[in-house]
Amino acid sequence: MTGLFDVTGKVAIVTGASRGIGQAIATRYAEAGMKVALVSRKQDALDAVAEELRAKGADVLPIAAHNGDKAALTAMVEVVAARYGGVDVLVNNAATNPHFGPVLDAPDSMWQKTLEVNIMGPMWLAQAIVPVMRQRGGGKIINVASVNGLRPGTMQGIYSATKAAVINLTQTLAMELAADNIQVNAIAPGLIKTKFAEALWSNPDILEAVTTRTPARRIGEPDEIAGMALYLASPASSYTTGQVMVVDGGVTVPML
Ligand SMILES: NC(=O)c1ccc[n+]([C@@H]2O[C@H](COP(=O)([O-])OP(=O)(O)OC[C@H]3O[C@@H](n4cnc5c(N)ncnc54)[C@H](OP(=O)(O)O)[C@@H]3O)[C@@H](O)[C@H]2O)c1
Repeated sequence: MTGLFDVTGKVAIVTGASRGIGQAIATRYAEAGMKVALVSRKQDALDAVAEELRAKGADVLPIAAHNGDKAALTAMVEVVAARYGGVDVLVNNAATNPHFGPVLDAPDSMWQKTLEVNIMGPMWLAQAIVPVMRQRGGGKIINVASVNGLRPGTMQGIYSATKAAVINLTQTLAMELAADNIQVNAIAPGLIKTKFAEALWSNPDILEAVTTRTPARRIGEPDEIAGMALYLASPASSYTTGQVMVVDGGVTVPML
């Protein structure tokens, strides 16, 4: 592929790549000719995705690292940069949502875990990767937030607060890194059919309530987020930074 969307040979790190949205993004990146480091906690699950992609001719590196472990994330970036000679794209996609209920009832441990995985992990990765991107003359950081970062999800207050923080952090990093030719953007998906959100879409009442207020009249599939991630990784997004790209079937459009 040549031109605006040409990402051939670019190196990406995708966290949460063993399933769901991260797997879909990693797959589309690999198909577009990118070299992709597949990251999550479980090496077995990553190896299985890697095997599938390598069978299609992709150059991928499955490497386990917990998003709440700064040392593991930093070491992972070093391994990927050494293997591929640099990093062009970071997709901060891994996240957790362990608490379902009123925020006032949540123990501190729930806050700490969610803050660490959803905010500190992406920040630690940015800290490790920016020097590598500067050496390359630029790069792309793509943070997977959520529509719940724009409007809080019912009984998901901690998660929603972390996603709002991810959006705000995206804007700060975009300002701080613009001069380095590093574009930083967020994607805010609506409800997507993955394991992460299974408690929502497998409940017929919740599913009906969401589809009824979604103009598209359905929830999304993981692959429907991948196109936005490809745009944000490509030269086509060279003047796009600090933005929140909402991909939600129209659910956040206020309807009269
Ligand atoms: N699904 C939705 O409706 C929806 C909506 C809006 C936003 N999002 C966002 O989309 C992103 C991906 O979610 P998904 O729906 O695709 O979820 P998913 O299918 O459950 O996948 C989550 C991925 O993250 C990895 N992961 C989980 N905890 C981790 C940790 N502590 N460290 C490293 N990796 C970890 C998982 O692999 P391991 O188990 O191997 O670690 C897995 O690869 C998240 O940021 C989520 O907030 C999802």
